[in-house]
Amino acid sequence: MFKDRRIIVGITGSIAAYKAIELVSSLKKKGADVYCIMTKSAQKFLTPLTLRTLSQNPVITEMFAEPQLWNVEHVGLAEAADLIMVVPATANIIAKVCYGLADDFLSTTIMATKAPVLLAPAMNHQMYWNPIVQENIASLKQRGYLFVGPGSGDLACGARGQGRLIELEVILGKAEELLFQDKPLQGKKVLVTAGPTREPLDPVRFLTNRSSGRMGYAVAKQAYLLGAEVLLISGPTEIQPFPGVKCLRIETAQEMYQAVLAHAEDCQIIIKTAAVADYRPKSRSAEKIKKRSGGLVLELTNNPDILAELGKKKKEQILVGFAAETEKMLSFAAEKAAQKNLDFIVANDITQEGAGFAGDTNIVSLVFPAGEIKNLGKMSKDDVAKLILQEVIKIMGEKEW
Ligand code: PMT
Repeated sequence: MFKDRRIIVGITGSIAAYKAIELVSSLKKKGADVYCIMTKSAQKFLTPLTLRTLSQNPVITEMFAEPQLWNVEHVGLAEAADLIMVVPATANIIAKVCYGLADDFLSTTIMATKAPVLLAPAMNHQMYWNPIVQENIASLKQRGYLFVGPGSGDLACGARGQGRLIELEVILGKAEELLFQDKPLQGKKVLVTAGPTREPLDPVRFLTNRSSGRMGYAVAKQAYLLGAEVLLISGPTEIQPFPGVKCLRIETAQEMYQAVLAHAEDCQIIIKTAAVADYRPKSRSAEKIKKRSGGLVLELTNNPDILAELGKKKKEQILVGFAAETEKMLSFAAEKAAQKNLDFIVANDITQEGAGFAGDTNIVSLVFPAGEIKNLGKMSKDDVAKLILQEVIKIMGEKEW
């Protein structure tokens, strides 16, 4: 089932380390090429010999040992991996990955890879629910790292609660899902825009909006997981793109316009989730604007409408826009879809709880030029992204690409 897939199994120092024996044995039986990396603490629970025998490959335990595999091992393994699984994953490795530490072979390999990284936490329940651990997990999820478990029940320390390594069948199921997801966007280039733009008034102030970039980053991630080569053109955000997604950062609407137009022609699919400022200050003061009595009137000028420009140039591309509305959502969205020559538009009423800016969920309607409307309920931005891409794939089929 896992034939010809190269899987790295990272084992860290938890009593659940012994379960890595069964995991490696199952992966091997399913045909995977398995390489184990053990941290120092893992070696207190398990011997490298056991894993070497089961994986039939050298087990890496030292950063600076004589190379047994490729010339620069951590880079070689990181590049060659189809999937990295950390089973069990302690609070320590989760924190190290979260903060970009690379002080041993496992953390270095994780830092250097573009492959999906799946972590299966195992630790004491109070440790697991420690807000620091929870924040680290949330931050890693945001960056595209994947988690499975932990399960609940009796823990090795005698307590009961959530922290047990989840059952191996669940871990194997998740690995299978990651490795064998259909890749219908293989060979396609997808351009996604995300985040807000900033329109400077002076060296310290700018006009902007509430976009966090989450919606666009989710679209970029899902397109990448479906096999596309993805270019994300992003306004200023605090989030990181999914590993493997190429990201170009811009600040103003004019910079986004230039970046998008420079790359659009190469891309078959363009999805514009960015909240682009419609206006910018007519002039930008070189010095900080001083406080004066009598108020201040700002003169604004129009920014280019990037999506409308793409719509004019569009030939064979699939072009998807977003519409953030506070009233008459469907009619305004339909108007934008027609004016901008879109294949469809994703409309969200940003006044609704759980929709629009910042949060992890959205509530959208897909509005098509022929008048068809698909209302999607409240769901995670990842799930919204998956459904948008399903529609794109359907349109690709109709165009016989
Ligand atoms: O980033 P998050 O916090 O996750 O929030 C997600 C979101 C609310 C930003 C997203 O769901 C969304 O609605 N994005 C579109 C926001 C928007 O600017 O809508 P609009 O109706 O003003 O623009 C319509 C379309 O034209 C958009 O695709 C926009 O990218 C594009 N546009 C707008 C103005 C402009 N000058 N150039 C453009 O290309």
